[in-house]
Amino acid sequence: MKELSSSQVSTVIADQHSVDAAILSRFSARAYLNKAVDKTVLEDLLAVAARAPSGTNTQPWNVYVVQGAGKDNLVNEVCAANEAMTANPELAKEYVEAYDYYPAKWVSPFIDRRRECGFGLYGVLGITKGDKDKMQFQHQQNFRFFGAPVGLIFTIDKALGRGSLFDYGMFVQNVMLAARARGLHTCPQAAWNNFHKIIFKHVGAQENEMMVCGMSLGYADESAIVNTFKTTRVEASAFTKWIE
Ligand SMILES: Cc1cc2nc3c(=O)[nH]c(=O)nc-3n(C[C@H](O)[C@H](O)[C@H](O)COP(=O)(O)O)c2cc1C
Repeated sequence: MKELSSSQVSTVIADQHSVDAAILSRFSARAYLNKAVDKTVLEDLLAVAARAPSGTNTQPWNVYVVQGAGKDNLVNEVCAANEAMTANPELAKEYVEAYDYYPAKWVSPFIDRRRECGFGLYGVLGITKGDKDKMQFQHQQNFRFFGAPVGLIFTIDKALGRGSLFDYGMFVQNVMLAARARGLHTCPQAAWNNFHKIIFKHVGAQENEMMVCGMSLGYADESAIVNTFKTTRVEASAFTKWIE
């Protein structure tokens, strides 16, 4: 990580465009080139990301980087578990996530946005309503890290409070932006959370840890149709109230 040549206070972000471009060009990439990422790039990226703020500088992040044969073994076991669960939904009780990432009961407008996102993705992929096999195939791509050469597993110490998950989000966003600065793309993934028991066995995570999410990281495949999917956003004016 290149240290700043001037102090943090006096550093001028001369190029606003680069910062905005990193934010605006980040999207959830769901197809990657078969091209390795240098370890030094990953080390540097994580060192930059760790400058994320956290309450009283608690730095709750803990990252497992999975690549090569280690990744293949994990992918194979989780894909098999997901397939078994699809065939026998009874098995779902064995694969319960450690915290409720999504609400038990969906309400508007969130359910509407969720649907728009799902249908939009399937639309780009030509998957029509009710085409369960294709939906299942696409879901299964999660557990192949969408073909990315690098998988990241994020965990947190269970001793920490809810606020630390808030800090964690900033770290995860930093990872994704620092990735952009290095020509890389990412896809954060809660899909892995159900399989934390299998994952922990593979990465050697301990009892005191809780799975936060997974992430695919690599060089995005520009020719993949899935990577043309662009999500919408609510206008800032719709969620901002000005009290003056
Ligand atoms: C914590 C988190 C978990 C997510 N989990 C998944 C996932 O399991 N699979 C997936 O395909 N996308 C996942 N996403 C991606 C979201 O669908 C995506 O961020 C959202 O639709 C906005 O699209 P964009 O990231 O392309 O801007 C996740 C995003 C976040 C922040």
